[in-house]
Amino acid sequence: MNLLIMGPPGAGKGTQAERLIKELDITHISTGDMFRAAIAEGTEMGLKAKEYMDKGELVPDEVVIGMVKDRLQQDDCKKGFLLDGFPRTVEQAKALDKTLKELGIKLDAVINIEVPMEKLMERLTGRRVCKNCGASYHVVFNPPKEEGKCDSSCKGELYQRSDDNEESVSTRLNAYMEKTKPLIDYYSEQGIIKNINGDQEIDKVLADILAAVKS
Ligand code: AP5
Ligand code: MG
Repeated sequence: MNLLIMGPPGAGKGTQAERLIKELDITHISTGDMFRAAIAEGTEMGLKAKEYMDKGELVPDEVVIGMVKDRLQQDDCKKGFLLDGFPRTVEQAKALDKTLKELGIKLDAVINIEVPMEKLMERLTGRRVCKNCGASYHVVFNPPKEEGKCDSSCKGELYQRSDDNEESVSTRLNAYMEKTKPLIDYYSEQGIIKNINGDQEIDKVLADILAAVKS
């Protein structure tokens, strides 16, 4: 199954992606995670991306599109994939359509997670992420069993993302409204969008997504 998950920053894309890839045995492709890995490795692309990410701005289309195109051609995508955080602009969506056509595959569904905008700031400023496996936690809504440590077997240290401060989050929310929200219409016209209420317990959101993609 080839899926795409979208929604504003903090909607729960990463939280649901972690669970969905296990349930459906598909590969997670998160452009945000790919950039954070490139930053950690200190590559040229990572350094360029960091300038935009820390401010909460989108990384230029030409950088992202090439990166995803290469990623989709790797072997582990053959069993199916879940795109998370890409596309983020109409330009990126058109490039994705073109790439999928070239590869002879299609998207089965686009999961659109809906959460009231006023809830997102609190979700993001309270988020903590595992340094090892990237799992997302929240100090109030989804705390780890042991403070500062990942629940999974990796037991990684939890950290706060450098773009999870109020200023960067405001810029990210504006970028979403202006550049990414129009994709809801883009995919509605293709008839593959599944709107999901993301303002519920994490497990209930997961159950709703699974029911929607299997229907
Ligand atoms: P990216 O890493 O994709 O960040 P984002 O889109 O801002 O989304 P987040 O990861 O912040 O939110 P999420 O929806 O995954 O929420 P999560 O599940 O963690 O991108 C970062 C940056 O990279 C961009 O700003 C840009 O600069 C660049 N970039 C990436 N892709 C790009 C592209 N295609 N083009 C251009 N630039 C690109 O959950 C958030 C919090 O809420 C957590 O604490 C979680 O525990 C909690 N939570 C989750 N679900 C629930 C629930 N149901 N109830 C209560 N709390 C919940
Ligand atoms: Mg995420």
